[in-house]
Amino acid sequence: MTNRNAWQADELARAARLARELRAQVGADARIFAARAPGRVNLIGEHTDYSGLPVLPLAIDRATIVVAASNTSGELFVRNVDPTWPARTFRIERQILPFATGEWANYVKAAAQGVIDHFAARGASVSQFCGGAMIVDGRVPISAGLSSSAALTVSAALAFMAINSLELTPLNAAQLAARSEWYVGTRAGGMDQAASLLGRRDHALFIEFDPLRVRSVKMPSDAAIVVADSLEIADKSGRVRGEYNRRVVECSLAARILGRALGFEHVRILGDIVKRVDRFDALQLIEILATNSPAELATDLNDAARVLGIDRDVLAHDLLGAGPHRILLDARPLKVLARARHVLGETERVRRAVDALAAGRLDEMGMLMNASHASLVADFECSTDALDALVQAARRGAALGARLTGAGFGGSIVALCRAQDATHVIAQIDRDYYAKLGRQAEPARSILHAGPGADVMELAAA
Ligand code: GLA
Repeated sequence: MTNRNAWQADELARAARLARELRAQVGADARIFAARAPGRVNLIGEHTDYSGLPVLPLAIDRATIVVAASNTSGELFVRNVDPTWPARTFRIERQILPFATGEWANYVKAAAQGVIDHFAARGASVSQFCGGAMIVDGRVPISAGLSSSAALTVSAALAFMAINSLELTPLNAAQLAARSEWYVGTRAGGMDQAASLLGRRDHALFIEFDPLRVRSVKMPSDAAIVVADSLEIADKSGRVRGEYNRRVVECSLAARILGRALGFEHVRILGDIVKRVDRFDALQLIEILATNSPAELATDLNDAARVLGIDRDVLAHDLLGAGPHRILLDARPLKVLARARHVLGETERVRRAVDALAAGRLDEMGMLMNASHASLVADFECSTDALDALVQAARRGAALGARLTGAGFGGSIVALCRAQDATHVIAQIDRDYYAKLGRQAEPARSILHAGPGADVMELAAA
């Protein structure tokens, strides 16, 4: 997978510095590997991936770097250069139990577990995996909706594979990493990990699922992407997780009810429907759903089971899972209709956006991004006042389109503008948002570029 061109000069320098530190710890003869994995910003296609429906993100030019060396201890020792995150050690075993919720090293555990699961399913035994030492240096803003967690998991997975002399294609690695957020209890789709692994300089990525595939779309040279952090923490391992998982349940329920109405079997996600209809028409599907289901269903799932004609407990097990990661729902009703309206409408917008972007029709792309935000506000209810204020500021500042990006409930917005207007957009955001908040604008907002995907290489002895 090695591609030195994927590394920026300062990333190579960081890796070399970390390698020197690691060498002091593991000895002059040890083989040292370095992995980099970028964060991502999603242009459009929000909350569609876990329904198996497409997304259009790009890998950003900020990455997490991990350097690693193997040892025979059977344990993995991980240290973060940021002292906020204490060093951790864990044993390499078939089932690696997570640390307490919110613990940063859970993302490293998720990576190791993902690699072990993948190769164990292909006949490897856990005793074949070695432990080692890793140093992590993350430069993707944390809890800002830019997938710092995917950057960490992907870089750690590549590093863990490298010290074990294992390699996968980027596409297979993306499949392996897709479920890594499940390890921390979030039922996320695979967008973030795929974007991190499949990124391409100056290109957005049209990513489809089941099976995972990607088509890169050249970013028009007259376009610029501005990302601005609301500074509201969108911590998916904490508060946001419950809201996120609730949406996953609502979308799956909508899919099952629609599947039954259409006479399709084994429908679990809305993508199962979109794949099977002769001609995909979001409005038509919403109408069918509206005539076959109440807009809201009680969380006890009794109504839902009745509508679906199945046993309530079977449905609950299927939808919520079991064990420590069983999804817990509070008493608010489940909004199946509004959630499906967003996801299906967003799918149409993503398809149009790919064509608009490829043809350089930036006005149309901006309009689609605005429509996406409106739908995320009204139907998906994952925006906040702060995100809305940022979106408004960006639009006042000549953005062609602006929307929340990532899971929402805090985090960042993404704005599209003409390259010559980018400083204007930023100035407006600074005035209307950060100044009013009394917060420093730097480095919360910036112009980001589509960068290359993740990479791993061996570092020569110094
Ligand atoms: C988070 C998840 C992704 C995706 C987005 C919303 O970033 O990790 O899988 O669901 O939210 O589009």
